[in-house]
Amino acid sequence: MIKEITAKKLNTTKFIAEKVQEIKATVGKGIAINALSGGVDSSTVTMLGHMALGKQLRTVFIQNGLMREGEPEKVAGFFQKLGIEIEIIDAQKEFLTALKGITDPEKKREAITQTFYKKVFGHIVKQSGAKFLLQGTILTDVDETLAGIKRQHNVFAQLGIDPQKAFGYQIIEPLIQLRKDGVRITGKALGLPEELFARIPFPGPALAARIIGEVTAERLAVVRKATTVVERMLCNKKAFQYMAILHEDRVTGMRNGKRDFGQQIEVRCWDSIDARTATPTKLPFELLERLAASILKEVPGVVSVTYNIATKPPSTIEAV
Ligand code: XMP
Repeated sequence: MIKEITAKKLNTTKFIAEKVQEIKATVGKGIAINALSGGVDSSTVTMLGHMALGKQLRTVFIQNGLMREGEPEKVAGFFQKLGIEIEIIDAQKEFLTALKGITDPEKKREAITQTFYKKVFGHIVKQSGAKFLLQGTILTDVDETLAGIKRQHNVFAQLGIDPQKAFGYQIIEPLIQLRKDGVRITGKALGLPEELFARIPFPGPALAARIIGEVTAERLAVVRKATTVVERMLCNKKAFQYMAILHEDRVTGMRNGKRDFGQQIEVRCWDSIDARTATPTKLPFELLERLAASILKEVPGVVSVTYNIATKPPSTIEAV
C-alpha cells in the first residue's frame, strides 16, 4: 500500500531532501538512466535524479518524430540552462517504420509503445550498463493500472529485460506518493521553468493521437503546423487542453479560383478538472474565425476547419 502525500500536506524541502537521499543510497556508485519526455512527471524526476546523482544519471530524450515543433531542442535547452545535459536520440525512422500502414487506433498506440520500449529505449538501457531505471510514475498511474484503465505496466518486461536473468535491475519511482498537483509543486520547487511544470497535458503517443488514419511524415507535418497555430492562439484562454486533429476524409475546397480536394483540421478545446469528463470551451466566434483564417493561411493543403462541440463522454479528449 503506497502512502499518499497530498499537495496540501507536501513539504517540498523535506520531500526533496528525503528523495535525494533515497536515490543516492539506492544507486550507490552505480549508473542510472531515465527517459525524459518533457512532461511534468519525467521533467521533475530528471531534476531530482540529477540532484542526487549528478553525472551518474544518464538522461535521454527520444525524438520519435511525433512531437510538437522544436520540442526536443526546447526541452533539452531548458535543462541545459539548469546545468543538466540531455542526450537527444534520433529514432524518427524506427517509429515511422513501425507506424507504416497502420490505421487502427489501438494498433497505432501499441506500435508506438513497443517501438519505444523494445526497440529504442530497451536497447539503450541494455547498452548503457545502467542497472537503475528512474521513472516518473505517480499515484494516479498506479490507481489507473489497478482499475484496469491503463495497461499493466511491467516496465522490465516492456523493455525486453528479464530481471531474473539480468540480475540487479531496479526501478526507482520517487514520485509514486504524489498526484499531479504535488508533482507540479515539487517541479517548481526544484527550479523547473513554468513552461515545464505548468504544461497542459499531452498524450504519450503525441501527435499520432491526433491523426485519424495512417501516420506518415507528411501527415505529421500538417498536424504539427496546425498544432503550433492552435497552441499559439488558445494558450491564454485558461482551457484544460487544446489541440488540432487531422481528419482522414478530404473535402473539396477552392484555392486561387481552382477546385482543391484538400484536408480537414478539427480544433478541440476542453474545459475539464481531471480529464475524466470534459466540455468544449465556449470560445468567442470571432476568435474561432481568426483561428480558422490562420490555419488556412499557415498550413498548406487545408481547406476546412471545424470546432468540436461534443462533450466527453461520449467523446474522448484525443481523437485516436
Ligand atoms: P482521452 O482521449 O482518453 O484522454 O479522453 C484523457 C487524457 O489523457 C491524455 N492521454 C494520454 N496520456 N498516454 C498519456 O500519457 C496516452 O496514451 C494518452 N492518451 C490520452 C489526454 O491528452 C487527456 O489529457
